[in-house]
Amino acid sequence: MKKLKTFPLLFLVICFAHEDLCSQENKQKQNEIVINADFGKYKISRHIYGHFAEHLGRCIYGGIWVGPDSPIPNTRGIRNDVVTALKDLYIPNLRWPGGCFADTYHWKDGIGPRKDRPSIVNVHWGGVTEDNSFGTHEFMDLCEQLGCDAYITGNLGSGTVQEMAEWVEYLTSNSESPMTSLRKKNGREEPWKVRFWGLGNENWGCGGNMTPEFYADLMRRYSTYCKNLGGNKLVKIACGPNGSDFNWTEVLMKEPKNRWMMQGLALHYYTVMDGWGHKGSATEFNEWEWISTMNATLKMEELITRHSTIMDKYDPDTRIGLYVDEWGNWFDVEPGTERGFLYQQNSLRDAVVAAVNLNIFNNHCDRVKMANIAQTVNVLQAMILTRKEKIVLTPSYYVFRMFKVHQDATMIPLTLKCEDYRFEEKKVTALSASASRKEDGTIHLSLTNLNPNKPIDLKCEIRGSKVFKVDGEILTAPNMNDYNDFGQKEEVYPVEFKGAKLNGETLMIHLPAKSIVVLELK
Ligand code: AHR
Repeated sequence: MKKLKTFPLLFLVICFAHEDLCSQENKQKQNEIVINADFGKYKISRHIYGHFAEHLGRCIYGGIWVGPDSPIPNTRGIRNDVVTALKDLYIPNLRWPGGCFADTYHWKDGIGPRKDRPSIVNVHWGGVTEDNSFGTHEFMDLCEQLGCDAYITGNLGSGTVQEMAEWVEYLTSNSESPMTSLRKKNGREEPWKVRFWGLGNENWGCGGNMTPEFYADLMRRYSTYCKNLGGNKLVKIACGPNGSDFNWTEVLMKEPKNRWMMQGLALHYYTVMDGWGHKGSATEFNEWEWISTMNATLKMEELITRHSTIMDKYDPDTRIGLYVDEWGNWFDVEPGTERGFLYQQNSLRDAVVAAVNLNIFNNHCDRVKMANIAQTVNVLQAMILTRKEKIVLTPSYYVFRMFKVHQDATMIPLTLKCEDYRFEEKKVTALSASASRKEDGTIHLSLTNLNPNKPIDLKCEIRGSKVFKVDGEILTAPNMNDYNDFGQKEEVYPVEFKGAKLNGETLMIHLPAKSIVVLELK
């Protein structure tokens, strides 16, 4: 009886609570962004727009390197079409030779006359034999053709300290020494500049299955012998955590003697759909897989925040950068391709993921000093796909091209209030954004609508700067799994954006579903 009497009251309470929640949600539905255009003190390092090319599948061999005798147009063996496309991204750096491959790579196998180089088995990636025709000289030539900084990962897992020290000497020394003589004998008189140096890769896994304490001891030892020679200054990057391994970061950061030996700590995090059990197809997916991918990729925000919090504790002056030197989507390989080659197509979903992550990196540019999408050609979330002489620019490529305006600009802090995008039991934020200011005052605002079904109207208030003109580009496509393919008309490519209207200090933006927009405000 008592229970029955209290029921109507309970019912009313539930109704009011529900209404309150709903009105909160409705309030949230006012999608708003405030840009403080005259604020901002951190530069978005261009190295956030970095790339990664491993001896894996068809990334180097076939994708970048075809050899000087190939009918495919090349410069000293390096594909001209790939170089031209990457230069258009203002590619700032290229990480090489791996990945897991780096901790099995013995650099002396890849120098000298190509016909004399030994063949090796790539034990991590498909067990294929490679002839080492792409080695140190070819990689440095590639960086020179691209006009980008070299990021070389040394072999700490299975190579010796002497081997790593000699590689640095071979590359960068201008003193008379056995290594410089060898370099000269192999045709390179002047030393190269090598800016970034990795002290192993994933040494918690494929790079030796080490504990953080053991790795830290080794890292200091190897770092000691990698010297700054001939005016070259290395930025040394230690192997960092696997995703949410916060203990790894804690161990590496807490000891001052570790911190002295590194200028960067790497973070690896791949977007793998949560709760699915397998990775799923890159092109054949439904909305549940779309939102699961978004949910998994947005975890990058939490990972960077939490690793940065640990780093802030020991390095409040941000002397040591967080280098997200492997990130991107990891799906099942394309049917009919070698499992160990990690070849996947790239759809509009990849483009949205790229934009979301680049916005996250931009907004964390006080600590994030570099990021490298995995990988440049024919592997995982690639910029470029090649098939013999043919080339495809992926939707991810176009995001990098649109976002290049942020390189080395000052990050503008913004506040974003927006609705959620929901599907079944999952919920993610519907919008992602970042903004920056160039030295001449031009502002760039990048926006992404993660909802594949619903366009979003967004009010943007610009404080601290007078804006008279707005231009922009948009990347979208009719279907969420549209992609660009060989011999087909391009499905996903940027076009002029006409959905922004300026009204005094307010900008009204109509963002189509599943779209990426970059605006230029002058
Ligand atoms: O990018 C593919 C692989 O993923 C890399 O070799 C390795 O570092 C990571 O596990």
